[in-house]
Amino acid sequence: MSISHQQLGKLADKFGTPLYLYDQNAMESKIKAYLDNFKSDLFQTGVLYASKAFSCKGMIQLVKDMGMCLDVVSGGELYVAQQVGFDMNKVYFHGNNKSKSELEFALSLDIGTVVVDNYQELVLLDKIAKDLGKKVKVLFRLNIGVDAHTHKYISTALFESKFGMMPDSQEFADCMSYFSGDANVVFDGIHCHIGSQVFEINAYKLAVDKMVAILKQWNTPLTLNIGGGFGVRYTNEDKPIDTAELCKMLIDYVHKALDEQKVSINKLLIEPGRSIVGEAGSTIYTIGFTKQIPTKSFYFVDGGMTDNIRPALYQAKYDCDVVGKQNEPKTNKVTIAGKCCESGDLIIEDVMLPPAKSGDRIVVYTTGAYGYSMSSNYNKATTPAVVFVKDGNAKLVVKRQTYQDLVANDVNDDWSQL
Ligand code: LLP
Repeated sequence: MSISHQQLGKLADKFGTPLYLYDQNAMESKIKAYLDNFKSDLFQTGVLYASKAFSCKGMIQLVKDMGMCLDVVSGGELYVAQQVGFDMNKVYFHGNNKSKSELEFALSLDIGTVVVDNYQELVLLDKIAKDLGKKVKVLFRLNIGVDAHTHKYISTALFESKFGMMPDSQEFADCMSYFSGDANVVFDGIHCHIGSQVFEINAYKLAVDKMVAILKQWNTPLTLNIGGGFGVRYTNEDKPIDTAELCKMLIDYVHKALDEQKVSINKLLIEPGRSIVGEAGSTIYTIGFTKQIPTKSFYFVDGGMTDNIRPALYQAKYDCDVVGKQNEPKTNKVTIAGKCCESGDLIIEDVMLPPAKSGDRIVVYTTGAYGYSMSSNYNKATTPAVVFVKDGNAKLVVKRQTYQDLVANDVNDDWSQL
């Protein structure tokens, strides 16, 4: 992160804490690294930003300005894209249980592609397309059973996964036969996503081999989408592959697999989310009380699992510093705990930090992905503000929620008979 500790202090003073901060320069160079290196002279390529990692108008505007495509998984994420005037041709709609109204919304916007999860969805989508007099491209989400050795909750292509269809299943065969009739859905290719926070390039290679083998059954060049999931650095134990190198390795491997299996494709897609925003984001908290018990020392901060559920949900590990004391000797073993009424509301357990006191700020690194986007109002906590920093300037992109926002949807309607 290129934001200095002096700037962190100023940002906390200006915008309050807890605060989500994004280094826009870092996001831009990540996006550029993907766009510049994920290229082939044999087929078209596309990089979709997986907006579930972090979606707000400011972010999707940046993605749009930089020329990426977009992956959305709900009507809400699609709405954000619409709000910034995203080119709908470049939007891919994912999800295992899209509702009729979400599909209608997508088609009314002339969405480019729907990534269909199952046969029932295909039939519903086709019906909606017919009713609206539209054609829509579809990719099929396949479950190819590649284990990306990541956390169980975020590994999505094991055979028992809820996502997609197995390539040799009757259900997928039924989908393929569907196109023989007079369909408004247009078959464009296949998709897989093997998990998230993945470091093993071999898992992608295996996925590519399997997907290319599946493509062999059609003798027309189609779209191959190999998903996202590229790992980032949370702590020193994480060793992510450089983005440019990763892109080149993926492209080279796809070339090799296509050549070996004598298959050609029209387009290759990837859909990184975490790796675009994860390391560019950090969260600043203020320490309130501190507490010493015989076995532990706590710094209590003014946020917690409501702005970062990942430690509680996935035992995720993070690094942090005391703002302005990053170069002081780290002599105290402390646990950074949030303010929620949950014993598990611990942001970082047993981390070495310099002595700190109430009023000091803590910066937790790499909170840019699945932090804000998984935040909640549990305990009626208000969602922190989001600020982008670029070239030494700061810009508020999401306001801090207020107490009024917390009851904005609460009504005291009249009773009506059922
Ligand atoms: N494409 C598909 C179809 C996905 O399901 C996902 C993530 C992505 C792309 C983007 O993956 P990424 O590049 O961000 O790893 N909440 C969890 C992560 C869940 C990811 C779900 N799918 C976490 O906080 O670790």
